[in-house]
Amino acid sequence: ELLDQIADFEKIYDTPAPVLKAIVKHFTSELDKGLSKKGGNIPMIPGWVMDYPTGKESGDYLAIDLGGTNLRVVLVKLGGDRTFDTTQSKYRLPDAMRTTQDPEELWEFIADSLEAFVNEQFPEGCTKPLPLGFTFSFPASQDKINEGILQRWTKGFDIPETEGKDVVKMLQKQLEKRNIPIRVVALINDTTGTLVASLYTDGETKMGVIFGTGVNGAYYDVISGVEKLQGRLPADITADTPMAINCEYGSFDNEHVVLPRNRHDIIIDEESPRPGQQAFEKMSSGYYLGELLRLAILEMVDNGHILKGQDCSKLRKPYIMDTSFPSRIEDDPFENLENTDELLSKTLGLSTTVQERKLIRRVSELIGTRSARIAACGIAGICQKRGYDTAHIAADGSVYNLYPGFKERAAAALRDIYDWKEDKPENYPIVIVPAEDGSGAGAAIIAALTEKRLAAGK
Ligand code: BG6
Ligand code: GLC
Repeated sequence: ELLDQIADFEKIYDTPAPVLKAIVKHFTSELDKGLSKKGGNIPMIPGWVMDYPTGKESGDYLAIDLGGTNLRVVLVKLGGDRTFDTTQSKYRLPDAMRTTQDPEELWEFIADSLEAFVNEQFPEGCTKPLPLGFTFSFPASQDKINEGILQRWTKGFDIPETEGKDVVKMLQKQLEKRNIPIRVVALINDTTGTLVASLYTDGETKMGVIFGTGVNGAYYDVISGVEKLQGRLPADITADTPMAINCEYGSFDNEHVVLPRNRHDIIIDEESPRPGQQAFEKMSSGYYLGELLRLAILEMVDNGHILKGQDCSKLRKPYIMDTSFPSRIEDDPFENLENTDELLSKTLGLSTTVQERKLIRRVSELIGTRSARIAACGIAGICQKRGYDTAHIAADGSVYNLYPGFKERAAAALRDIYDWKEDKPENYPIVIVPAEDGSGAGAAIIAALTEKRLAAGK
């Protein structure tokens, strides 16, 4: 019976090549829909970055980077020679802040962190206001580069009275309250930041992608390719002017046409603060991988297959297991999975047999593998839409950087999608490369590009 259960998990988490190909096919048409006047599920948000970095941008910029799990405050020194230096402080976002009922609290936290950083970096004070690029890793609509109307929270965030509002204004207000001499000049998505930072140092970069708490990608389109911008642009903007697009493709397939959703995915969706949203993200990003594992383990418990007679009350708490669980379990080097034993007993009060741990590891493998394979479809979707046969895809985020085997599995998925015969992932025509030091640098480069545009009277 237990073997049947595992065989069933193998089936419901399976993503063979034909499934991936079907996902990519639908992806490309959904990306086009998102760019149309009518719009679609994928927001395809123009980011108002309308220049490619030359590598010659220079100067000192501040950046804040509100990702999924951390807030980073960064001082970026652009060298003007395709190099940059960063000094940064990282603050872990308190868990409760994701769902605080007080909308001011988040902006206060950011402003406090920024104030501490500025005082430390500029103890003598600053002579003129410092330009700041704000990397805000949520869907935010923009009619210009220094605004961002939050469409909706993702990744488990849920803070009242913020959706539909301009996050730049909310932050600027807190900065003014504290008399901090900072001007927010650009608001960017983390994927756009990753794209631009990597393009600054590597001219082959075609996309910035995040495999982290959330999953998303950005690329450069041209104005003529963005139908929904027609009529919204000054006449001097030409059809071939570039425009960075933050796809927000975590929302791909919210109508559930092609993604192989299973019963665990359905529970995750129904119990999330935004049911029906972020279908693609909920199957592949870091915020959900531990929860998928928890649901699978619970199912085995409730079917009487494992952990018989044990107190599973902790295990019944939603989101008690974050992505570090499947990640550490897959990483356990010991034959009898002693690290896993310790992890499960210390955190959940469970004592497991070797066989049980092996099962849990197998399920982790299924969840981790599906995540990488599905996430890779976003890359292929953009490349096929733009006709890129060769590309460097700059990737960042905790899952990409830390989850064991993720890189290899994502590369193998691209190989399956494209039927490549070559064995070595580094020789594939489309290769996923580690991004250049996070999107904070991208925010700084974009702030520099923005200032240049403004100085040129554009
Ligand atoms: C960081 C980038 O490295 O990765 C951030 O600098 C990005 O901009 C983050 O948001 C995503 O990772 P995670 O795992 O924190 O969501
Ligand atoms: C979520 C956010 C998106 C972000 C991604 C990665 O999908 O909506 O803006 O880029 O996570 O952090």
